[in-house]
Amino acid sequence: MCGIVAYVGPKDAAPILLEGLARLEYRGYDSAGVAVVNRGLKMRKVKGRVADLAAAVPSRFKGGLGIGHTRWATHGVPSDVNAHPHLDGAERIAVVHNGIIENADELRAKLTADGATFISETDSEVIAHLVARTVKDTDTLEEAVRTALKRIVGTYGIAVLDAERPGEVVVARNGSPIVLGIGEKEMFAASDVAALVRYTRQVVHLEDGELAVLRADGFHTFTMDARETAKETLTVDWDAGHYDTGGYEHYLLKEISEQPETVARTLRGRLDERFHIAHLGGLNLTPHETRAFRRVKIIGCGSAYYSGQIGAQLIEELARIPADAEPASEFRYRNPVVEHDTLYVAISQSGETYDTLAAVQELKRKGGRVLGIVNTVGSAIAREVDGGVYLHAGPEVSVASTKAFTSTAVAFALLALHFGRVHDLSPADGRRICDGLRKLPGQLAEILALEPEIAALARKYAGHPSMMFVGRVRGYPVAREGAQKLKEISYVHAEAYPASELKHGPLALIGPDMPTVAIVPDDELLDKNLTTLGEIRARGGQVLMIGHRAAEAKLADDCLVIPKNETELDPILLTIPLQLLAYHAAVTLERDVDKPRNLAKSVTVE
Ligand code: G6P
Repeated sequence: MCGIVAYVGPKDAAPILLEGLARLEYRGYDSAGVAVVNRGLKMRKVKGRVADLAAAVPSRFKGGLGIGHTRWATHGVPSDVNAHPHLDGAERIAVVHNGIIENADELRAKLTADGATFISETDSEVIAHLVARTVKDTDTLEEAVRTALKRIVGTYGIAVLDAERPGEVVVARNGSPIVLGIGEKEMFAASDVAALVRYTRQVVHLEDGELAVLRADGFHTFTMDARETAKETLTVDWDAGHYDTGGYEHYLLKEISEQPETVARTLRGRLDERFHIAHLGGLNLTPHETRAFRRVKIIGCGSAYYSGQIGAQLIEELARIPADAEPASEFRYRNPVVEHDTLYVAISQSGETYDTLAAVQELKRKGGRVLGIVNTVGSAIAREVDGGVYLHAGPEVSVASTKAFTSTAVAFALLALHFGRVHDLSPADGRRICDGLRKLPGQLAEILALEPEIAALARKYAGHPSMMFVGRVRGYPVAREGAQKLKEISYVHAEAYPASELKHGPLALIGPDMPTVAIVPDDELLDKNLTTLGEIRARGGQVLMIGHRAAEAKLADDCLVIPKNETELDPILLTIPLQLLAYHAAVTLERDVDKPRNLAKSVTVE
């Protein structure tokens, strides 16, 4: 989704902006642009890739102040004209904007009546005209920006520059992230730390309703009513190397392959040998408060939601607390009943997903206690929640989530163990789960070693127009995530159903054109799952079975046997072959694996 980079300092801004924009490519975009100030404004914008923009920027594009943007079209088609930055008529003010301005039509009509000429179809262009309107009569650029923003209804992260004030950039945030980067006699800003880590690891996150003025020698932050705010500087522990493909053909394969290490990081220091409990220092819950919750409600979007379904199952099984997961995007719109004896858990890799953030804010407004399971330290959701668990999985660049999904499921196992051991989970069961968790990294490596076999299966099945994924109880969220991965990156239509529901409708779809991936763990539901396989094959459907026992392989057309862990933890491992299956299907079909069409990594708009 849209990305912002800004620079002010002694160096030429353009190469820094282009490098920053390249680091934001993973978020998904369709056009890009940069503007710099050097005796007037210079700007280049193109529909296409950052590399196309770099080619369009001439070598004499000098200037130590600049802003850049990658756009993901919302208002108006992807085009050179609709790309950001946007300028006012006099070409004095340049603006880049993430978010959506809800009253753009109304403002556009008023500004047009006042003589402004609009050249793009975007909502963002109104900001440039609004700022230009007041900048002549105000002492400072921030005052002009503040006056403009007061007229705007909607969400924004913006960076603004004024050709007549070549020493400063103003940035502001309301619902769309902005992070400042502090350098040596230079300042940066971006919508994502990924754009900054090559230059600095000292960052400051803006809050909603805050505005900052950046000059080469430092920054000041203000509220919308001009009160200066005090900010904490954080050190980011991810460096530029985390954003490389590390010799892999795609980020997705790199991130799948990293999972033994990323899961080990999620577990590190959190398992207690002596009492068989989990140490989760960031929950901010006393044992008394933990015992008082009667229910757990989990929210997240996309893969985060499916990992939440695995989490709900783990909490019910290990802690015997009723738990369920719901898409945050639905939850926030249905005026949910917020109960004080329910613990709410919000999941987000990026910590920025707008629907999840809005749901958290609604819960907080109504007095709900909210934990976060988040990967990005210091992100908006991490700052909004009452406590939580960081994944420590490192940056996830590929649009389709893999290692964050797995680490989230592991974080839920820790949370369920923690809740279970203050309820009635026995020390023996606590030990069993701790031992199982410790085994995960080694077993993940064993599954990754099956990649050649999985790649061959992907090549066999990728040509089908549609695939069914089925699983029962613990296997159902695994099936949903498997179907999600396949459709996201290979564009093969995939449906996920509880295996038990097949005969109540979708069995009508089964036939030679619709193979089924069946999640068949060795648990108390094994026989029921095997019966389902029989039903599918009796209708001419092919079955690829993912499970633990080779003995039943003859009941399927293909069978992939993976290591078994404790039954409650098996869903974590069962997901891994499905990630590889989707990856190799996408490669076989020559898809843009890391940047699938129409999708964005962080969906920061409604
Ligand atoms: C987008 C991505 C998904 C991701 C979801 C939630 O839709 O394409 O891969 O699962 O957002 O993202 P989050 O950062 O909140 O986990």
